[in-house]
Amino acid sequence: MTLSDPVSTFDTAMFRGVMGRFATGVTVVSFMREGEPAGMTVNAFLSVSLDPPLVLISVRRSSNFVQHVQVGGRYGVNVLAEAQEHLAAYFARRPDGATKVAFRDHLGTPLIDASLAHIVARVVDIHPAGDHLLYIAAIEHLWHGLEARPLIFFSGKYKQIHAHEPAIQWNDALDGW
Ligand SMILES: Cc1cc2nc3c(=O)[nH]c(=O)nc-3n(C[C@H](O)[C@H](O)[C@H](O)COP(=O)(O)O)c2cc1C
Repeated sequence: MTLSDPVSTFDTAMFRGVMGRFATGVTVVSFMREGEPAGMTVNAFLSVSLDPPLVLISVRRSSNFVQHVQVGGRYGVNVLAEAQEHLAAYFARRPDGATKVAFRDHLGTPLIDASLAHIVARVVDIHPAGDHLLYIAAIEHLWHGLEARPLIFFSGKYKQIHAHEPAIQWNDALDGW
């Protein structure tokens, strides 16, 4: 397929495949659903502004999240470690209640222990974008979590980083630039 192909012949599988070559981390976005903590696996997560500090997630319109989080509401972002792959799989399907997930509460927003990092953000804007909604949110709290290796998603599969520590510390090497 080329860029000049008409939209009617757009190859969705090709689009997914090409986008899958963009390696990402994996998060579980946590929120309250009818008084109970809930989560959703999300890799469409990015920081959008430093001043003010804003983040964004892109959520499919049909997701439960959309029914439960509005402007003024909050969501948690839990950046997953490689040991949390089971949570990524669990929160990518409709929860069956069989898996017990250790949520902890932060002022009404659930968070998942043993993650690499946590953010609590308040939704300031929801932009429609095709079959998804972009939830822009102001960071209210953030924490480093465990020092551990991240879970990676690439080409439709979970991956782990197997890298040696670099011999050169680049921060030192860049001193004086
Ligand atoms: C690695 C991975 C990343 C995902 N990222 C997103 C995402 O960024 N946005 C989204 O809407 N769904 C994403 N999904 C799909 C949702 O996790 C899944 O549809 C959702 O948990 C189902 O929730 P629901 O029961 O509310 O529909 C992702 C799934 C996986 C496995």
